[in-house]
Amino acid sequence: MPTDYIQARNSHLHFYQSIPLYHRNNDGRFILYKPAGGNMADIRIDQGRHPEKLYIKKTDKLAGIREVQTAFNLKLKEEIRNQTPERVKDTIMTIVEETFNEPRSSSIEGLSKTMDILVSDYTKESNVIRNLLFVSHNDYTTVLHSVNVMALVIGFATHENYSLADKKVLGLGALLHDVGKAKIDSKILTAPRELTDDEYDTMKAHTTIGYQVLNKCKFADPDIKLTALQHHEKLDGSGYPEGIKKITEMAQVIGIVDCYEALTNDDRPYRTAMEPFKALTIIKDDVMAAKFSRRIFEKFCYSLI
Ligand SMILES: [Fe+2]
Ligand SMILES: [Fe+2]
Repeated sequence: MPTDYIQARNSHLHFYQSIPLYHRNNDGRFILYKPAGGNMADIRIDQGRHPEKLYIKKTDKLAGIREVQTAFNLKLKEEIRNQTPERVKDTIMTIVEETFNEPRSSSIEGLSKTMDILVSDYTKESNVIRNLLFVSHNDYTTVLHSVNVMALVIGFATHENYSLADKKVLGLGALLHDVGKAKIDSKILTAPRELTDDEYDTMKAHTTIGYQVLNKCKFADPDIKLTALQHHEKLDGSGYPEGIKKITEMAQVIGIVDCYEALTNDDRPYRTAMEPFKALTIIKDDVMAAKFSRRIFEKFCYSLI
């Protein structure tokens, strides 16, 4: 099969406007099905009245992701207004999943709009964002983890009276802190056992990979990429990747929230999710050992109440 075309997801057919769709005829050639600049009729999609497989040109992939992000952002706004946390979470996860499938600067920068919606509507609809954490999902994935960390840090930022602009940067840092994992073999990320030393080294590289990916993005605030790099560093120098002791405030906040989320939600077979109090007790041990900031930890505890 020629590599210039990729199959479009049926769930995304509604959203492709500016990019053309193709189908493949019997002799294997790709023929224009829907030209650029128009929607496929919804009824045709809903009733499955289109070829089973439709394709987009590989060169249109990023434009396609942007169209999907734009459409899902509109949906998100409406769902927040309708106070439906389950739908809101699904939509955010779809947006993040799309982005992590192709983690390049222009798709990642598209998350900025999503975060605008989340932080500006949060003040009015704070319950929806808070409730995001209580929507359960079957699979524990990097995307789910990232969305949960984001919901927790927005709660933290609101409790601390951050400005909208600062909240947005913190939220983006949270959503993107593990973006480097998108480039790591999923067998390592989901291994139902302890990792070997080599695998652990590969996994640790998600910090530097994330930094490199985000370094190409046009985010004005360097804290977003520094968070990807530093969120596993510890104040006593025992963290990774560099073992530094001087860690940005934002990476420290997200580092603590990251641990809390992983402890309370991790459902990999060899570990079990913990109750919030137990998780905070474990993190407190790290505070006592001077790995985490006591000041930030206390603020985080208050933001959970
Ligand atoms: Fe991480
Ligand atoms: Fe993480």
